[in-house]
Amino acid sequence: MTAFSPHPDRRALLAGAGALLVGRPAQARPLNLRHIAARGGRLYGAAIEPQTVEGDPAFRALVQAQCGLLTPENAMKWNAIAPASGVFDFAPADRVIAIAQAQGAAVHGHCLVWHEAMPPWLEAALRSNPSPDAVRSLMVDHIRRVAGRYRGRIRSWDVVNEVVERNDLRPDGLRRSPWLQALGPDYLALAFQTARAADPHARLALADYGLEYDDEPWMREKRATMLHLLRRLKAAGLPIDALSIQGHLLGDRPPAFGSGLRDFLRQVAALGLEIHVSELDVNDQKMAGSVAERDRTSALIYRRFLEAVLAEPAVRSVTSWGLSDRYTSKTTMFARTDGAPVRPLPFDRDLAPKPSAFAIAAAFGEVLRPLEDEWR
Ligand code: G3I
Repeated sequence: MTAFSPHPDRRALLAGAGALLVGRPAQARPLNLRHIAARGGRLYGAAIEPQTVEGDPAFRALVQAQCGLLTPENAMKWNAIAPASGVFDFAPADRVIAIAQAQGAAVHGHCLVWHEAMPPWLEAALRSNPSPDAVRSLMVDHIRRVAGRYRGRIRSWDVVNEVVERNDLRPDGLRRSPWLQALGPDYLALAFQTARAADPHARLALADYGLEYDDEPWMREKRATMLHLLRRLKAAGLPIDALSIQGHLLGDRPPAFGSGLRDFLRQVAALGLEIHVSELDVNDQKMAGSVAERDRTSALIYRRFLEAVLAEPAVRSVTSWGLSDRYTSKTTMFARTDGAPVRPLPFDRDLAPKPSAFAIAAAFGEVLRPLEDEWR
């Protein structure tokens, strides 16, 4: 089996901003993940930083062509919006909304409550042993201000992020976050009820990682804990509409996305919840091999994961945590020891589609030309 490597003149074709073609030029058609996903009634998109889209016209053209859904990678987090107590900076978030509106894309808001991305003033306030009422006011005011500002313009919100942490040894498996420490498990109800009141139009999601691999015992246990939690929240009447599965996959680990994942998704869907793959990428920090070999392996991982996930009708959207290797936080967060550029995303640094882009297309049901199929 040979590595997928587009013929030079096809790479030129592929690299044309917005004119990404697959198959032989005579029968070429645009590789357009946005339209391929929409054909199946789903959304495909990416997390973005406003400045990379605004400052790079070729990248903006790629985002416009490929994304029907946009997520602010950082612009709507607490530390971006409220850098100091009583100080609010909505400009970056407003710019993401404007980019989405300009290209007719929906927006997935990320994230209203999290134990990370807290500004120093908030961390200090939560460490100062405040009264539960004071913490409730902090959370409620923030959610009302942020979700209220974008009312009607957000398709879905990650209301609370990364809630389950079994290593914190609580019987309910909840993470001992500052929010839990101050308010107990009811902080979840408060967050979702406040978000619903602030924006009745948005689908409200719980988001988490570590739910993807069948052959990882802690992930199997986390799935069970998550299911118990979701059942409890639904039974308590919480206004929760969706589960966001982050989908941070590992390039140095064989794909193991089988009946365990499918059963988990089926049970989540049976609760009446939508499912979003909200932060999809393949971490190639520890991958060995040539660029072509790494790209082919990553594509296989993308395809196996998405084939398992998209078999569940309740999965309504897939978001890559970035669109091109030109802009990925993994460059700093998961740099390779050999110094080679990381390659976690479907489009390369030249904005050309990699085998992973074809893998995503195939998983959404696109029939690829034999040329693209050879890397299966
Ligand atoms: O914008 C400032 C810049 O002004 C400053 O000079 C620079 C130096 O400190 O920091 C910049 O902010 C950084 C921000 O990314 C934008 O680049 C923050 O320090 C840095 O902590 C932040 O990291 C983000 C991280 O979440 C924490 O919020 C990553 O970009 C982002 O990819 C990552 O995404 C998370 C999801 O939100 C939740 N799931 C896991 C995922 C990966 O960690």
